[in-house]
Amino acid sequence: MTARILAIETSCDETSVAVVADGHRVLSNVVSSQIDLHAVYGGVVPEVASRAHLERMEAVLAQAMDEAEVTPSDVDAVAATCGPGLIGALLIGVSTAKSLAVAWDVPYVGVNHMEGHLFATFLERPDLELPLVVLLVSGGHTMIVEVAEPGRYRYLGATIDDAAGEAFDKVARYLGLGYPGGPIIDRLAADGDPEAIRFPRAMMDGDRDRIGLDFSFSGLKTAVVNHVRRHPDVANADVAASFQEAVVDVLVTKTLVAADRVGARTVCLGGGVAANSRLRARFAAAAEAAGLAHLVPDRAFCTDNAAMIAAAAHHRLAADGPTPLDGGADPSLRLPVVA
Ligand code: KG4
Ligand code: ZN
Repeated sequence: MTARILAIETSCDETSVAVVADGHRVLSNVVSSQIDLHAVYGGVVPEVASRAHLERMEAVLAQAMDEAEVTPSDVDAVAATCGPGLIGALLIGVSTAKSLAVAWDVPYVGVNHMEGHLFATFLERPDLELPLVVLLVSGGHTMIVEVAEPGRYRYLGATIDDAAGEAFDKVARYLGLGYPGGPIIDRLAADGDPEAIRFPRAMMDGDRDRIGLDFSFSGLKTAVVNHVRRHPDVANADVAASFQEAVVDVLVTKTLVAADRVGARTVCLGGGVAANSRLRARFAAAAEAAGLAHLVPDRAFCTDNAAMIAAAAHHRLAADGPTPLDGGADPSLRLPVVA
């Protein structure tokens, strides 16, 4: 029997509903972005996000079911992101999913957003060779995770201050480029020289054997600000390209060191920053040079989307069963890790 899961993602500023069969066949994945609403404020405004999720949910849900050609009786479970994220935004998705689960008499599954980003890899390649090392880079998180098997994770490293996406967004804001900064810097950097300015690569001291796997990006952001203050005529494209290169250098180097340390044969990327052109290219090239298999998911599965939530829900439902209907939303939910 095909198990069809309808999943809802509303943790931040995308309203998304997807229908996925068997944990990896994407029947639909509708994403309604609120970027235009938040851009005027230079960042996501939580109250605006919650209201927009509420206003758009019905249409996005209808479109996702339409595109997947399913009716309620074809849906075997309903899932929603239950954290981490903005509490008001999360609650819209969670309450919608629970209501549908009750109305359609199917299980409800609460999904960890970061586990969703991890499962973007299994959406495309359910047969990936384990253990994997996954670099998860989003607006709120930056971490290297070892996946011994789906559902069994170990943190190998994480940021001690800003997330990588946050650094992109803050640098773009400082340069007056707009929001969200990641895609804008990505585009602008294509016309710049990545070697123009040698920005610092933090926490890269020591030789390869002893290099730490944690990250720090707040010093880099300050270095960009100081450089632009001292050189007001510097070309934005060169700043963008050089900043991006510093971020990518650290992310790629540490992920490959991590894979080496735990003996992983496969490395993957996940999260919104994994949509970055330079990161995707350098990650693939470095993995190939090291003789590692690698997976860089389609951009649509890197930034927030409900298909990845459905994929994670498929696994959670099989492993843990349904989530009780009194399970709420947790803005600071952590990835379930083994020691
Ligand atoms: O995973 P995501 O969609 O939402 C969170 O869970 O945070 O990630 C959003 C982050 C933002 O910081 C955005 O600037 C960044 O991902 N991002 C990018 C690119 N596209 C999105 N960063 C660099 N290059 C991109 N092309
Ligand atoms: Zn995300």
